[in-house]
Amino acid sequence: MNPLLSRLQPYPFERLRQLFSGITPDPAHRPISLGIGEPRHPTPPFIIDALCDAARNGALASYPATVGEPRLREAFAGWLARRYGLKIDPQTQTLPVSGSREALFAFAQTVLQPRPGASAPPLVVSPNPFYQIYEGAALLGSADVHYVPSDPKRNFAVDWDAVSDATWARTQLLFVCSPGNPTGAVMPLEEWRRLFELSDRHGFVIASDECYSEIYFRDEPPLGGLQAAAQLGRGDFRRLVSFTSLSKRSNVPGMRSGFVAGDAALLKAFLLYRTYHGSAMSPAVQAASIAAWGDEAHVAENRRLYREKFSRVTPMLAEVLDVQLPDAGFYLWAGVGGSDTEFARDLYAQYNVTVLPGSYIARERDGTNPGAGRVRMALVAESDECVEAARRIVQFVRERR
Ligand SMILES: Cc1ncc(COP(=O)(O)O)c(C=O)c1O
Repeated sequence: MNPLLSRLQPYPFERLRQLFSGITPDPAHRPISLGIGEPRHPTPPFIIDALCDAARNGALASYPATVGEPRLREAFAGWLARRYGLKIDPQTQTLPVSGSREALFAFAQTVLQPRPGASAPPLVVSPNPFYQIYEGAALLGSADVHYVPSDPKRNFAVDWDAVSDATWARTQLLFVCSPGNPTGAVMPLEEWRRLFELSDRHGFVIASDECYSEIYFRDEPPLGGLQAAAQLGRGDFRRLVSFTSLSKRSNVPGMRSGFVAGDAALLKAFLLYRTYHGSAMSPAVQAASIAAWGDEAHVAENRRLYREKFSRVTPMLAEVLDVQLPDAGFYLWAGVGGSDTEFARDLYAQYNVTVLPGSYIARERDGTNPGAGRVRMALVAESDECVEAARRIVQFVRERR
């Protein structure tokens, strides 16, 4: 067996299952889960129709190419042009992926290089808290992870200045997540400028995870990594690849569809890796994806639903918890003023509401876990259900005081 497998951490939901094991929630309350970040708004019918039409018209009768149909990559480039004002070559600067999760993982395997004879393994730098795939991808790529905490006092911006030059010098890959999971923070242009400078100086690659980019609460849509690069005169996107997904934008988490775009040399290597990895997108999914990327009306409606939901729930919770409307995403990242695991466990037992302890999606470093004392609440259920969960949480917190 591959010994690196033993370095993988239990997934947060596995830990949650253990935390809740043996508890029977009060049967007076029906279960409500704010635990998993799985979109639950209905899938738009035109996407389902495109999928089924393609399947009925022979799409399943041949092997797909890993690069995808030219029309698919043109749909990616068209969307990047409309959303970010970017000029992208669909042939060399985009690739389809089966959701951003597998792509983030596979990309690390493409980028990371062993350092034979070196005294220490290569490093992957990750925000903390973070999406757990970054860590698993690094560990299975024989790298170590350097976690960089986000700072609650600066809207949860990641404290890149806390990373030493010696650490950057060993870094081969940096994961950034904007809008962030779980904090919802969007990286401004100045932060991108700083990261590009560091990448130029030390040669590391930046993987920019942007799967929440279309769910936002400010007037201005979130700045994308490629957009920041273009604004800073880096139109070749050197050492930068962005990861985008339909899962949250179009409510199709089960379709497994996204794309990567950026540095053509990196994508050429990534295509080679993917050809062997065997991760080509089904032609039926390609057809449905072309339809989805070409339509913005359903995305605007989806955003409207999240905005309405967050505007109802956030003020209720802000009365009892340290929480505010995020820049973007569909999570509330709330300070509970005590143990996050006890909070989650007791809330489940007494009110049958599931939230994720923040310490499960962050790692302790130098004696501090930046997720401790916080919980992540995914407002993915429909609005009234989220409001009912908030009502129970308010009651729960008031009773605990
Ligand atoms: C930060 C982040 N990145 C990537 C993903 C993967 O999403 P998908 O594979 O559906 O594109 C998720 C899913 O929850 C996520 O939270």
